[in-house]
Amino acid sequence: MKKTITLTATDSVVIEAANVQKAYHTGTVSVQALKGIHLHIQRGEVVAIMGPSGCGKTTLLNCLSGLDQVTKGSVKIAGQDISQLSDRALTAFRAREMGFIFQTYNLLPVLRAVENVELPLLVTGVRPRDARELALEGLARVGLEAWAHHRPSELSGGQQQRVAIARALATQPSIVWADEPTGALDSKTSQEIIDLMLQLNREHQQTFVWVTHAHEVAQQAQRLILMRDGLIVEDQPVAASAPPTSSSAAHEPAKSSEKGVK
Ligand SMILES: Nc1ncnc2c1ncn2[C@@H]1O[C@H](COP(=O)(O)OP(=O)(O)OP(=O)(O)O)[C@@H](O)[C@H]1O
Ligand SMILES: [Mg+2]
Repeated sequence: MKKTITLTATDSVVIEAANVQKAYHTGTVSVQALKGIHLHIQRGEVVAIMGPSGCGKTTLLNCLSGLDQVTKGSVKIAGQDISQLSDRALTAFRAREMGFIFQTYNLLPVLRAVENVELPLLVTGVRPRDARELALEGLARVGLEAWAHHRPSELSGGQQQRVAIARALATQPSIVWADEPTGALDSKTSQEIIDLMLQLNREHQQTFVWVTHAHEVAQQAQRLILMRDGLIVEDQPVAASAPPTSSSAAHEPAKSSEKGVK
């Protein structure tokens, strides 16, 4: 029987990595990008991953989300070892339950904002009319309904990242992976994007995993993982008493000409 995977509301541990190793081979050179990662991520957690460039953060996201295969060890999602799944089952699961946000937004330039957001819905088989409605709702949630019919090139960096967030959340995924989601944004816009993700986490118990170079971003997660040279060297709750950063202390909830974030 073909294996499939589903997440139910009772699955508290969403992701489990056991001794995950990943080697890349290019020509005669091989790089051990992950050297034995052990990690549990719970439903509804906001986790920040930090570490120097090249320490394996993106590789870890790719392995945990099943975009890339591990060389050794295992990744379980909702208790199911993803290496046991067919490509098709894994792709379908990813489309349904995972959202991705990247530093450079990765919006399709020829598509309007609403078309970018509805794409993952169409991929999962939602009817076009329903997908359009859901996409417009998603854009409204990030305060961008007035910009639905604009192309990415007509939007600011922060607006493009909000479209990318609406797209990542369109299918109401359980887990959202964000690889430097604020890396290309100024500090005020960056804080708006963080506030938006934290609000969505509170309202929908979605799990967020942020890779970031910014301490002021990481301090707003619930848990901070530090990586070095392919390994986790620290994994701690973010202290509730951590002093607010100057940008977050000064920050007011997003209010913009596009109706603000609801
Ligand atoms: N597709 C690939 N082929 C070969 N080597 C790779 C590949 N992807 C990553 N690497 C190597 O694996 C190591 C980890 O890379 P990774 O991209 O995960 O680092 P990172 O922590 O995300 O860095 P950054 O902060 O710069 O984004 C690096 O040495 C990198 O050169
Ligand atoms: Mg990276």
